[in-house]
Amino acid sequence: MATAIVNIGSLLTNDPSLGTIENAAIVVDGERIAWAGPAAAVPAADDRVDAGGRAAAPGFVDSHAHLVFAGDRTSEFNARMSGRPYTAGGIQVTVAATRAATDAELDANVARYVAEALRQGTTTIECKSGYGLTVEDEARALRIAASHTEEVTYLGAHVVPPEYAADPDAYVDLVTGPMLDACAPHARWIDVFCERGAFDGDQARAVLTAGAGRGLVPRVHANQLRHGPGVLLAVELGAASADHCTHLDAADVDALAGGTTVATLLPGAEFSTRAEYPSARRLLDAGARVALSTDCNPGSSFTSSMPFCIAVAVREMGMTPDEAVTAATLGGAQALRRDDIGRITPGALADLVVLDAPSHVHLAYRPGVPLVSAVWRRGARHR
Ligand code: NIG
Ligand code: FE
Repeated sequence: MATAIVNIGSLLTNDPSLGTIENAAIVVDGERIAWAGPAAAVPAADDRVDAGGRAAAPGFVDSHAHLVFAGDRTSEFNARMSGRPYTAGGIQVTVAATRAATDAELDANVARYVAEALRQGTTTIECKSGYGLTVEDEARALRIAASHTEEVTYLGAHVVPPEYAADPDAYVDLVTGPMLDACAPHARWIDVFCERGAFDGDQARAVLTAGAGRGLVPRVHANQLRHGPGVLLAVELGAASADHCTHLDAADVDALAGGTTVATLLPGAEFSTRAEYPSARRLLDAGARVALSTDCNPGSSFTSSMPFCIAVAVREMGMTPDEAVTAATLGGAQALRRDDIGRITPGALADLVVLDAPSHVHLAYRPGVPLVSAVWRRGARHR
């Protein structure tokens, strides 16, 4: 069953041979894109949907989110907006609430945030553990995440839980030993929060290499709250992405530009912690690959909105609207090492957003306005 979506005013494809097409059409066949090009050349299909001149773009790829949690941290946010700084310690509040939650409660929360993201155009979302921090609670978080997305990340090394406060290295042994045994079957990726108050460079290296030994590909929470070894470690280990990248020196930028690791910027985190934004411009000008993601979590960035992140990245990080939308789609796909998402090209999954706007540029030009009028995911229309 092939459906032609016609009368697309402007189509961002992220396919270099197609570019952005004015007055375009797409043919969706099953889960995939069968054809994309100028409307005048659209091949015959079984069905026809008229986009009414609206713009379309690939569905957003949110390559960094922490959705398996319970509770909320409104009071911490309030305190921060009254001048208190963000620290890694707040994570423990969510750990306690998550451990106390039932499987059904956690599952319902993940379902809610995945649906919330989908309504805003996110067709692929990565999801980390990291609020369980026991063998059982981390494995359960990953099992629950895996029932909602295929992009699942083991983040047992989020912070050292209180019961290991006196012996953090024993916690690293747990994360790289029995916890890894229980978690590896449910995850594709391994992540570590490399930061003062969480894990230092040596501990992060131990975590990532142990995970890589079990077939999990590294990603790193790097250089978020201050400068540290996370970015260089990520590049050295061939991590898929170094995330946050808020505090970078010239060596970090050079390493990202020269390596395969994607720099994933999380503007929601700087927004919600009232921190300085990193310069995406500096990374792009150096030749680094950049992704944009939400970092959706109850502490540092409680947004599931990729359009919000696009708008902030344009305003505060020096990206052009084209660069930001590409980073939120193709960039996310690169950070997840996927070539079947993030672009509208024959053979790719039929994941796309239709916007109540003449161009994808309006995602930045009209901040806060709910422009997503239709979302197609794996060939099915969701709204
Ligand atoms: O990516 N940086 C570490 N982890 C999360 C924050 C988690 C929290 O505050 O609950 C982040 O910002
Ligand atoms: Fe994060």
